[in-house]
Parts: sequence; structure tokens; C-alpha cells
Amino acid sequence: MFKLANLLNRKTVKNFLPEKIPSEILEQAIRVAWRTPTSLNSRPVILLDISSKKNETWIASQPAAQTAPHLFLFAWNAEDGEANARKFLAERYDGETSDDRVATTLARIIKNRDEWARQQIYLTAGYFAATLEASGVAGCFIAGFEKGAAAENVKLPEGYLPELIFACGFANPDDPKTNKTEWARSLAEFYFPES
Ligand SMILES: Cc1cc2nc3c(=O)[nH]c(=O)nc-3n(C[C@H](O)[C@H](O)[C@H](O)COP(=O)(O)O)c2cc1C
Repeated sequence: MFKLANLLNRKTVKNFLPEKIPSEILEQAIRVAWRTPTSLNSRPVILLDISSKKNETWIASQPAAQTAPHLFLFAWNAEDGEANARKFLAERYDGETSDDRVATTLARIIKNRDEWARQQIYLTAGYFAATLEASGVAGCFIAGFEKGAAAENVKLPEGYLPELIFACGFANPDDPKTNKTEWARSLAEFYFPES
């Protein structure tokens, strides 16, 4: 069941039961991720189920991948993102994608196209993981994998590059490490209200 308390108590989990996530829960999280806002409606991010890849050498050494029943990969394409952003701006200005105002706005917002496109991953991944976690699913982000090898071994659409994996499932309650790490920061050190 979807409960905010699950998120309020969230911790990274790296040891999972073999049981799969019910498809209704997964579908909700996929739909939330799909609707994540992106800069200039650029939508440079895609989500791939790569659960069958967990034993491949480029990911297998990650502790969370060893037991996770699901692995999801977020990938990005800066060129597609920029093309979508151009169309979005052309509509906004009621003009053509070649319009000077489109070029001016793009240049103002996109200083480094790859960085701009890649950073959209983290918001999409956040919406996805938070929806799963609120639904009682546990998980661990994995940025530490061999991206070149992943790109060669995962069937990605043309021009897309792998960036971040979310390993997830139901937490193994018998793992003594589950829910044991301390917060690095207190709430007062994190949130600064306007006084
Ligand atoms: C962007 C990102 C990348 C991460 N990459 C890895 C990783 O490669 N391997 C891993 O075991 N954990 C990874 N983690 C999990 C962090 O180590 C974990 O979130 C951190 O230890 C804090 O624990 P907590 O989430 O329980 O607060 C990653 C987390 C984030 C947000």
C-alpha cells in the first residue's frame, strides 16, 4: 500500500528477497517517472528493465545487484533532448524551430548540452524510486558500474547512453545491515527556513 511513512523512514537497501514487485506497483512508478518534468519539455531520459543482466560482469560486483529481483536503467540522449526542446520553444513562440528566439533561449538555458540532458535523469529516477519506496519497495541506486560495457550489452535505442541503475525489490528483513546506517545530517543542518 502507498504510504508516506514508508518514504519518511526510507533507507537504502542492498539485500533483497527473491519475490518480484507486483506489476500494479511497478506500473504506477513507471507512469510517475514518465510524467516527471524535464527542462524545456526535452524528455531526454528513458527507462529500461535490465533485470536479466544482473550476473553480467559490468554490474555483478555491486552488492545490491546480487540479490535484487529487478534492475532498472536510466539512459539519456542529449541530441533527442535538444530536438524536443527546440520543438517546445517553437510552439511557445508560435514560430519555427529555426526562429532566432528559439536559438537565444536554448543558448541561455543549455550551457553544456550533455550535462543539461544527463541531469534530467536524477529527477526522473527520484520520482520513480520514491513512488516505489512509498509503496513498500526497497532499493539502491547504482552509479558505480561500467558504462561502456553496459552500453555494449544492453539493447539501448540508437544514441542513448546508460547513466544510473536502480536495483529494487522487497528488503530482506534478516539482513543486519538493513536500516542501520546513520543520517549524515540532522534536519536542522539540512533545511533552513526563512527566519
Ligand atoms: C546517485 C547515487 C548513486 C549511488 N551509487 C551507488 C553504488 O554505485 N553502489 C552502492 O552500493 N550504492 C550506491 N548508492 C547508494 C548510497 O550509497 C546510499 O544512498 C548512501 O549510502 C546513503 O544511504 P541511505 O540512502 O540509506 O541514506 C548511490 C546513491 C545515489 C543517490
